[in-house]
Amino acid sequence: MNMSENSKTQEIKKIALFTSGGDAPGMNAAIRAVTRAAIVNHLEVVGIRRGYQGMIEGDFMPLYASDVSGIMHQGGTMLRTARSDEFRTPEGRRRAYRELKNADIDAVVVIGGDGSFTGALVMSQEYPVSFVGIPATIDNDMFGTDYTIGFETALNTVVEAVDKIRDTARSHGRIFFVEVMGCEAGQLALHSGIACGAEVILIPESQEQGDDLNNFLHNGYKNKESSGIVIVAEGDETGGAMKIAERVCKDHPELEVRVSILGHIQRGGSPTANDRINATRMGVAAIDALIDGQNNIMIGLESDEIVRVPFMNAVKLHHSIDEHLLEIQRMMNA
Ligand code: F6P
Repeated sequence: MNMSENSKTQEIKKIALFTSGGDAPGMNAAIRAVTRAAIVNHLEVVGIRRGYQGMIEGDFMPLYASDVSGIMHQGGTMLRTARSDEFRTPEGRRRAYRELKNADIDAVVVIGGDGSFTGALVMSQEYPVSFVGIPATIDNDMFGTDYTIGFETALNTVVEAVDKIRDTARSHGRIFFVEVMGCEAGQLALHSGIACGAEVILIPESQEQGDDLNNFLHNGYKNKESSGIVIVAEGDETGGAMKIAERVCKDHPELEVRVSILGHIQRGGSPTANDRINATRMGVAAIDALIDGQNNIMIGLESDEIVRVPFMNAVKLHHSIDEHLLEIQRMMNA
């Protein structure tokens, strides 16, 4: 079977929704919005637990308006999430489709990142299921949207942590290499680095930051600063904060160097007001899109306007780094 993109195949009566991939603060607000917008539009709603794995196993629960009350301010996802290897196989997707069909589900809202949308795209090319995506990942790496749910909350978590690290770095006259998440994208590193006044930011999208680090170690640190913060994106080609710190220690034994890997703390916590508001807007827009017969599209926000972006573009292309922000960061540390 080969289903064409953006085609309306049937009138929608019952929808399912699920969260998939790494959790992100604001996913619960999106679940609430999708559920309530669907109910207002006289659609039946089913929640799928544990992402694609739950779809394969038929781990479904009916959702009513009251089921999603009191969750908006909570981090994580009430539907739980997973990274399913089984769904990557044709047999896994066959089982998932059988479960959706048995439950009379004809459209699905997927809340997640590019891996989740790729899974939806592949399945909808094989089976008659309409998918609409809501971008939720702390990485903010999706093409076609300025913003992904969870990014702002994660950014604030990083800023709070680095501000604290700055206190101890200054007290001891140390250089800290702070590693932040982001998968292959440097958005979280760049934005947090600017917000914290980091002396150097190392991100995969730019190679020139290596020179900035050398410059800081040779000039800035000795001449202007008695401590320093280097934000390292986990996807940077330098190999992560630990490796680069080891190299710096070897080349500059006179420096006091420490490493802090922030890790999964970045994924938790109560979502910011903006994450909640945008998750709510996107959830409503996802139901509007399904009612309009859309398929294989992601809801995005561009210049604060809701847009519909084909999955094909959202997953194949990358959200590029704002070069101007990089320039500003350099200027601040010139
Ligand atoms: O995509 C979100 C993210 O937190 C990335 O920043 C990170 O690389 C990855 O997920 C970690 O995944 P896991 O929690 O499965 O180890």
